[in-house]
Amino acid sequence: MNFDPLAPFYGAMEFLAAGGKLQRCRLEFLDEIPKPRQVLLAGEGHGRFLPECVRRFPEARIVVVDSSERMLGIARDKVEPERVEFIHADLLNWPGPPQRFDLIVTNFFLDCFPPDELAVVVDRLGEMAAPDANWLLADFEIPTRTLARLRSRIIVTILYGFFRIACGLKADSLVSPDAILQKAGFSKQRRMTSEWGLLKSEWWGRA
Ligand SMILES: C[S@@+](CC[C@H](N)C(=O)[O-])C[C@H]1O[C@@H](n2cnc3c(N)ncnc32)[C@H](O)[C@@H]1O
Repeated sequence: MNFDPLAPFYGAMEFLAAGGKLQRCRLEFLDEIPKPRQVLLAGEGHGRFLPECVRRFPEARIVVVDSSERMLGIARDKVEPERVEFIHADLLNWPGPPQRFDLIVTNFFLDCFPPDELAVVVDRLGEMAAPDANWLLADFEIPTRTLARLRSRIIVTILYGFFRIACGLKADSLVSPDAILQKAGFSKQRRMTSEWGLLKSEWWGRA
């Protein structure tokens, strides 16, 4: 999986396809969580969330990890670089610091993984999370209501097809991370859905 080829166009693609909808989803609970001191943005990509995080939490140490060098470069240009540590690494292998981060953020990231890899990546992030950590995530979802379900299925199938061709994405369907997050000691604090249930924002916490 390699997001480098898409990186220069990613922001424009998001704007054309979704306007501000994904960003609203990313920011849904950002003003409600306790102020973090150590933040990990996993698979932050082109850095839509990062400047908002920097602005709201001026005291926090923020680490961004992404496997795409070009995505990291675009995110780096959106903030004062001394405020943030950028790490080019694959989160399936990155030996991150244990129990360090009191905020983990995975926006439109967990949907990149097939079930076996999803379990590995959530477990690893869980090991890096502090005992009182919060976890914000935004992602796509297939709702249960019939028409909304059909609509979401069509959109998600098109998205997976596109990212398979453009980036070599291995995953071909959405897998819920809920059971793995619970196993890692997190429970769902808040949840919001939008776009007929296609988009979800969730706040999970360990406290
Ligand atoms: C679909 S994009 C989402 C970007 C951004 N978080 C957002 O909200 O739009 C997924 C991002 O995760 C990164 N990524 C995918 N697999 C990864 C891995 N195993 N380790 C680190 N980053 C990864 C990609 O390079 C890409 O930047």
